[in-house]
Amino acid sequence: MSKLTTPVLEALCGQVTRERYSSAVYLTLACFCDERNLPGFAKWHRARSCEEMGHAQKLIDYILDRDGQVCVDTINAPDCSCFNVLETFTTALEHERKVSHNIEELASVALRANDLTTFTFMGWFLLEQVEEEKTLEEIIARYQLEGGPSLLEKELGS
Ligand SMILES: [Fe+2]
Ligand SMILES: [Fe+2]
Repeated sequence: MSKLTTPVLEALCGQVTRERYSSAVYLTLACFCDERNLPGFAKWHRARSCEEMGHAQKLIDYILDRDGQVCVDTINAPDCSCFNVLETFTTALEHERKVSHNIEELASVALRANDLTTFTFMGWFLLEQVEEEKTLEEIIARYQLEGGPSLLEKELGS
């Protein structure tokens, strides 16, 4: 018998799908950079892609720990067309801001269901989003300040 209410379980499963979608977004951005011979940026995006799969797995483990049934849903092809490398980061930031909003909603669902365990569990994800948005904002600021990728490209690839 699941310890999760239906609305909370559905919200958690929805987030599993969104984390997997996030992983596909970063993978697409990594390919964009690799195709333009910028392996440092590609490596950075690819590492984020792996991290997002880690987030999905963290949610899956939690659902299973609470005796819930995990639904592995289909994910859409990422909708992210970039024209230059800077746009890979602005696209990622826009995406992360949406994800932050999704996670806030998930935490609210848990709170409304009086599920304080899930609410507490989601705290980790909320703080992770703060970190991810901050990192992307810093990369974008530095890219614009330095007027191009050279130094930053090397740094992110190391
Ligand atoms: Fe994530
Ligand atoms: Fe993320």
